[in-house]
Amino acid sequence: MAELTIALAKGRLLGPSIKIFESLGYELRDARDSRKLVIASNGARFILAKPMDVPIYVEYGAADVGIVGQDALRESGTNVYEPLALGYGACRLVVAGKPEFQNAEWKMLAGLRVATQYPRVTKQYFSARGLSAEIIEVYGSVELAPMVGLADLIVDVVDTGRTLRENGLVELDEIFKSQAAFIVNRAAHTLRANEIRELMEKM
Ligand code: PRP
Repeated sequence: MAELTIALAKGRLLGPSIKIFESLGYELRDARDSRKLVIASNGARFILAKPMDVPIYVEYGAADVGIVGQDALRESGTNVYEPLALGYGACRLVVAGKPEFQNAEWKMLAGLRVATQYPRVTKQYFSARGLSAEIIEVYGSVELAPMVGLADLIVDVVDTGRTLRENGLVELDEIFKSQAAFIVNRAAHTLRANEIRELMEKM
């Protein structure tokens, strides 16, 4: 059988994820220091992908397993197993806006514009509450949107809260808590059950 392929999310989770695999004996210096996207080590193959793409590589079987934030996993809407939460990369997905929305009954307002990198989760949140909102998808630095009038609200992840604070925004509601998750392709879960179970036990 081909070597096990492990997709790792780049960004904030990459450092801690590399540490886990290094502690299991994999040599991953290239994942830290080079621009390589595929790294072979100790009988496994690691691929580095953008967080939102990791669940897609795993769903299609281009990777057997992966590590990704639950925020990106939920946004992706992919059909993968999520057998293990890894306890790092904690953050929260929240609705935020200018302080004036804190007292205002923002949930009563019609036609709100919401900027986000999480359009699927945002749509679910607003429609589950019967709220009408126009969702504007942006690709980063979402906190900018309310400051310059692109949107009334944002849906984004908060870690320390510093980005919200330094841009004059406040949290209005928490949508869910997130952490790093170990995910598994559905076919690999059966076909490579032993290998994957062993890996999970070590992790
Ligand atoms: C994330 C998120 C917020 C920030 C929150 O952005 O989108 O902007 O971190 O962290 P804090 O609460 O500790 O300030 P990231 O730096 O990952 O980049 P991005 O804007 O490209 O998503």
